[in-house]
Amino acid sequence: MRHFINLSDYTGEELLNILDLADDLKARLKRGIREPLFPRRTLAMIFEKQSLRTRVSFDCAMTHLGGSAMYLSGAEIGFGQRETWKEFASVLSEMVDLVMVRAKHHQDVVSLAKYSSIPVINGLTDFSHPCQAMADIMTFRELLKEKTGSANLVGKTLAWVGDGNNVAFSLAEICGLMGIRFTMGTPDGYRFTPEMTDYLAHHVPNLNMTVYENPADAVKGASVVYTDVWVSMGQEDLKEQKEKDLRPYQVNEELMANCPDAWFMHCLPARHNLEVTEGVLESPQCKIFQQAGNRLHAQKAILAALMREQDADGWAN
Ligand code: CP
Ligand code: NVA
Repeated sequence: MRHFINLSDYTGEELLNILDLADDLKARLKRGIREPLFPRRTLAMIFEKQSLRTRVSFDCAMTHLGGSAMYLSGAEIGFGQRETWKEFASVLSEMVDLVMVRAKHHQDVVSLAKYSSIPVINGLTDFSHPCQAMADIMTFRELLKEKTGSANLVGKTLAWVGDGNNVAFSLAEICGLMGIRFTMGTPDGYRFTPEMTDYLAHHVPNLNMTVYENPADAVKGASVVYTDVWVSMGQEDLKEQKEKDLRPYQVNEELMANCPDAWFMHCLPARHNLEVTEGVLESPQCKIFQQAGNRLHAQKAILAALMREQDADGWAN
């Protein structure tokens, strides 16, 4: 039984297969087809942090697949507080088919998975955001296909500008697995933590990553320029310092002039005129809503892949 906690628990080919399925499900939905491929399955969604996209996309995904999702506030169920991980995970495993969790601490998701006999999906932690990266690569493939006729990602460049956070980490991980070059325009002090760097070195040895002090160097030759908030959820006490230090790493029209053919991406929510200007958000290069919409299709494919593995006959039902 497999979880969806780290992208590198999968091969690049396996992830591409999931994205092929996401493309297929998206095309079907456009024709109004919501096939109940896995009827009456249930997903528990645990949130220790706020969410719009992750919550709504997983809930809709389960409904489209013929099942349902329940929202569980981490505080209300005493996530990591009220009982041991073994008790918590064993009880959930008796009742629901899958669990998705957005946790403050990555280790809590790992602890939950250790005792779960149902698949656990990482819906964002302080360390990573794999479901977001899947939707982003789905979007990248769509854009490439539309522009060039080929969705081949190998050798393309995705440039990250700003804080080396959870979203950046998952993008680096997926780029390494898919042969995409990953550049970072990030100042000293905001690059990947030693834990992230070690993880990538061990689990994604083929990652082609270059870190630049100057964001203009990072975006040259890039197909995608990506940024995220400077202050992630839970880092509010660092707000003043981070906004000061990362100010030169704003994605603005001047920076985008270094890569006039690049698409702009952001996982959202965005802080207008901090990490990205209103002008870039309103430009034709900006693909944020396509990305957000693809959360639904990517999530649906991840769920379907996990349920298909869980139940050998499920896919044919
Ligand atoms: N991008 C993303 O995960 O959005 P939410 O925090 O709204 O789920
Ligand atoms: N880096 C952000 C992503 C939100 C989707 C955070 O962790 O708050």
